[in-house]
Amino acid sequence: MLGGKRILLIIGGGIAAFKSLDLIRRLRERGAEVTPVLTRAAEEFVTPLSVAALAGHKVYRDLFDLTEEAEMGHIELSRSADLIVVAPATADLMAKMANGLADDLASTLLLATDTRVLVAPAMNVRMYDHPASVRNRARLAGDGILFVGPNEGTMACGEFGPGRMSEPLEIVAAIEAALRDGPLKGRRILVTSGPTHEPIDPVRYIANRSSGAQGTAIASALSGLGADVIFVTGPADVPPPEGVQVVKVQTAAQMLAAVEDALPVDAAIFAAAVADWRVASEAGQKIKKVAGALPVLEFAENPDILATVSQKTTGRPGLVVGFAAETTDVVAHATAKRARKGCDWIVANDVSPATGIMGGTENAVTLISDAGAEDWPRMTKDQVARRLADRIAETLTA
Ligand code: C5P
Repeated sequence: MLGGKRILLIIGGGIAAFKSLDLIRRLRERGAEVTPVLTRAAEEFVTPLSVAALAGHKVYRDLFDLTEEAEMGHIELSRSADLIVVAPATADLMAKMANGLADDLASTLLLATDTRVLVAPAMNVRMYDHPASVRNRARLAGDGILFVGPNEGTMACGEFGPGRMSEPLEIVAAIEAALRDGPLKGRRILVTSGPTHEPIDPVRYIANRSSGAQGTAIASALSGLGADVIFVTGPADVPPPEGVQVVKVQTAAQMLAAVEDALPVDAAIFAAAVADWRVASEAGQKIKKVAGALPVLEFAENPDILATVSQKTTGRPGLVVGFAAETTDVVAHATAKRARKGCDWIVANDVSPATGIMGGTENAVTLISDAGAEDWPRMTKDQVARRLADRIAETLTA
């Protein structure tokens, strides 16, 4: 519930602005107070009158409106909220945010604020995929801006792909996650998840069967306790949780770079199933089938992300947690792994096919720490995640 929470809602100029009317209604149903800000372009899509009526609040539109300045200056307006939500966040608005431009009320509020900002991108798929937009998103993520969506689907322009603004209830879920109070409020926690894909040539790659389910559940549980979660994920089967900062990568090398970018953090949980090896030199062209000759792949070792972060002498997270998926002598192997990598805890599990754990919904883990090995009963991956998140909260707040 959002009772008493103050949301400054900036509505950008995109066709998805019509969904923001429903968003206002959903937020108010949950007890939030919504202060709307419309960009000039947004007024082409929704009228200030309908926005004001739904919000039950004056609509702010113009930086140079002296009445408004007398009433409440833009600096104060930008800081009086518990959360600033930009929906739809157009390519233009995100470009302004990424570059610190302040040429209208919306962009000025975004530059003047020290309140957390959640953006719901909405734009044509080509605009979304344009290198400039990709660059702007990476910069905004680095600045701590939270993202929800976009979804993939058919767009108003008739094209298909990522760029559809999240649905109002998805945005509400992300807002609730961002405003959640909990023992981990104000803590920054990194979670890696999913497999990595290591390219052989432009069409083939080496992968593994990790679904990303356990890492996703952990990120969600930590966010539920109020943590700011940076979720670095390989190409997983399950979608990333709402309300966390998502960084999508393909390869182990990209995952290491994303992890380094995310530091410093209070804790880092390495749940990804990172490929141990990559193909030494990725072929620039598709490797052709040649009668009577088999291709020979030469491998190179991937960086060990967990070990790299665990062994940092400066900027090491206060708590580093690794995973050990084993098929024999689970505790012995995992204990040795903990020492070898230098992490604080290892969450060990038996992934022999008979256990049904790999790709399944349940997990049976042993937590290995300085205190020794602690067996947890078999439970769902969500329950493992919540118990682990509770333990992390206890440790960080001790
Ligand atoms: O050595 P092994 O792959 O069994 O170690 C598993 C743990 O190490 C997991 O926490 C995994 O996320 C992490 N890891 C990593 N980078 C690698 C290999 C594994 O961070 N290259």
